[in-house]
Amino acid sequence: MKILAIETSCDETAASVVENGKAVLSNVISSQIAKHAQYGGVIPELAAREHIKNIDWVVESAITSAELTQQDIDVVAVTSHPGLMPALAVGTAFAKGLASSLDKPIIGVNHFLGHIYGAFLEQSELLNQATTYPILALVVSGGHTSMVLVEADGSAKLLGQSIDDAAGEAYDKAAKLLNLGYPGGPIVDRLAKEGNENAYVLPRALTGENGKAVKPELKYCFSFSGVKTALFYTVKKIIKAKGYDPETVAPEEETRLVTDAEVKDLAASFQKAVVDVLVMKSAKAAKEFNVKTAVICGGVACNSALRQAFSEKMASLNVNCVIAPPKYCTDNAAMIGGLAYHYATKGDFSDLNFDIASRASKIPNLPFEVTE
Ligand code: KG4
Ligand code: ZN
Repeated sequence: MKILAIETSCDETAASVVENGKAVLSNVISSQIAKHAQYGGVIPELAAREHIKNIDWVVESAITSAELTQQDIDVVAVTSHPGLMPALAVGTAFAKGLASSLDKPIIGVNHFLGHIYGAFLEQSELLNQATTYPILALVVSGGHTSMVLVEADGSAKLLGQSIDDAAGEAYDKAAKLLNLGYPGGPIVDRLAKEGNENAYVLPRALTGENGKAVKPELKYCFSFSGVKTALFYTVKKIIKAKGYDPETVAPEEETRLVTDAEVKDLAASFQKAVVDVLVMKSAKAAKEFNVKTAVICGGVACNSALRQAFSEKMASLNVNCVIAPPKYCTDNAAMIGGLAYHYATKGDFSDLNFDIASRASKIPNLPFEVTE
């Protein structure tokens, strides 16, 4: 079964053809990063306009580079939630039009579950094995930081999420503060490798550090706006220590007064604070729910320090670690097409009038059959 999948939930216009949930026949991604870079973050209306401009050729190219024609497509799948509403509206409208003109079924897919499936795309047989469950999935991207527990019956429960900035958003804002460019994650990741992660003390919110009690309902929630603010004040302190008055220094002057070595130390200290929290909370949940597999997925799962610290921690807990390959970490349509296959084989299609949603507090069940 060949599924044409479309993903436009954020700033990537993506289309892919995936066969039988595994074989990625094409994976086309048109990134809008350059368009949003000047604003230091994604502008939803601009994203939608760029999707409109590009979706036609991206979908066509996904079909032709898979050496297929539209008639060879069995099912159309599309990200329906969560995401930026104007951006989702473009992808779903296009997918509905295409499915209807080809007289093929359509499936609206949850973006979170798509990211989780992306981690398993090259080893999807694991999802059929009882020994894989429960699965703890940490979905970390520019829009989300969520911990999801998946049981062998396919039920997926949101254990917690960020109560303010997502981890990727914090990376992007930290990079903007340090005048490093957008998206910030890969740049901070690169600079952090050359810095001292213990140079500056930055907070690890909602972890109980410094004896601060964490409310039970926030046990698996995250907060990354504080670490970004702390970074802001650390920069001010560095400037003050050099004899300047941070109140009178213009923002564009600030970065000139901070040396490259200091920027690397700031990047390393910031990254350590974010990664510590992600790994600490994941380890706590892995123990509490006796998970057998721990997954990291989403754009921030490209982060080298997170990949290393997460896999080391899970290995020490005897938990099997599945980390999405970088090409399936950031937004792509292959993860959507792969997951959609499992709905399709159950005949679980969407009505053509299905809705989109910006948030998803409840995650739909995963459609896997545990057979081994
Ligand atoms: O999953 P994604 O492509 O889009 C969303 O669904 O948000 O994730 C993009 C995010 C951006 O915030 C970007 O800065 C972050 O992922 N990112 C990283 C790295 N590569 C991408 N963050 C930290 N380290 C990286 N190496
Ligand atoms: Zn995403």
